Amino acid sequence: MASDTPQPKPDPAAAAAALPKPLQYPASTPPQLITQGAEGRLYKTTYLLPDLPCALKYRLPKPYRHPVLDQRLTKQRIVAEARILAKCRREGIAVPAVYAVDESAGCLYIEWIEGEPVRAALNTWLHDHLDADAALSEEVKGVMRRVGRAVGRLHQIGIVHGDLTTSNMMLRPAPGAVDGDGSLLLAGEIVVIDFGLSTQSIHEEDRAVDLYVLERAFGSSHPRAEVLFDELLEGYKETFKQASVSLRKLEDVRMRGRKRSMLG
Ligand SMILES: Nc1ncnc2c1ncn2[C@@H]1O[C@H](COP(=O)(O)OP(=O)(O)O)[C@@H](O)[C@H]1O
Ligand SMILES: [Mg+2]
Repeated sequence: MASDTPQPKPDPAAAAAALPKPLQYPASTPPQLITQGAEGRLYKTTYLLPDLPCALKYRLPKPYRHPVLDQRLTKQRIVAEARILAKCRREGIAVPAVYAVDESAGCLYIEWIEGEPVRAALNTWLHDHLDADAALSEEVKGVMRRVGRAVGRLHQIGIVHGDLTTSNMMLRPAPGAVDGDGSLLLAGEIVVIDFGLSTQSIHEEDRAVDLYVLERAFGSSHPRAEVLFDELLEGYKETFKQASVSLRKLEDVRMRGRKRSMLG
């Protein structure tokens, strides 16, 4: 059937890069795609004010799931993540502030954290100090201790993160800090992010698994991980009263992990 008006050709590239609905208004700062994961995308944009940077977490619809079920699960997860962030803030733990929750659109707007993930900061440090033994560096030990304290604080208020890696922790530079000669590289505050898999749990087993996941993630990405992880656990003990219980349980979880890997 012929038509008088020419039809615009579909542009697959534009469709693939399509922004979530709430971002389709003419924003003063174009949203910038930071990461694309299996679960969703992370954009840097602004919120309400053109100079208020904001992180937008957008959960992608899962085509293999029934749309009604998919919407319901997405909503639940976004609200759960926002709730846990709010609880951490209330308890004085350094996490991004929640700006807005648009669970129907699959969007969570949170405070933009300056700095870089701990993983990246550590890798830069290792690259700049090729001859140094990271396990002996006060700077590296200091960051490990601060990571441990941050994890202990979460556990102290009954939150199990569920995905503890050095990519899910930001190292926020102190205001006004200058990183001239790289000596301040590992200074700054640990801000835990990505509570997408978090739960409020009272089980010591869950906390031990949290630590185990971090230990494994850490071990595969950093040399001398064992010594450094001990430093981290020292920090953990400082902020979590029941640390000794989790650490005993961690032994069991490690043992099971070893058995599993022996069996293949
Ligand atoms: N609030 C934030 N401020 C700055 N960067 C962030 C923020 N949240 C996430 N990021 C960056 O985006 C990456 C992915 O975000 P994350 O919440 O971990 O989602 P994912 O589920 O995809 O891992 C992080 O590793 C970090 O580099
Ligand atoms: Mg993450």
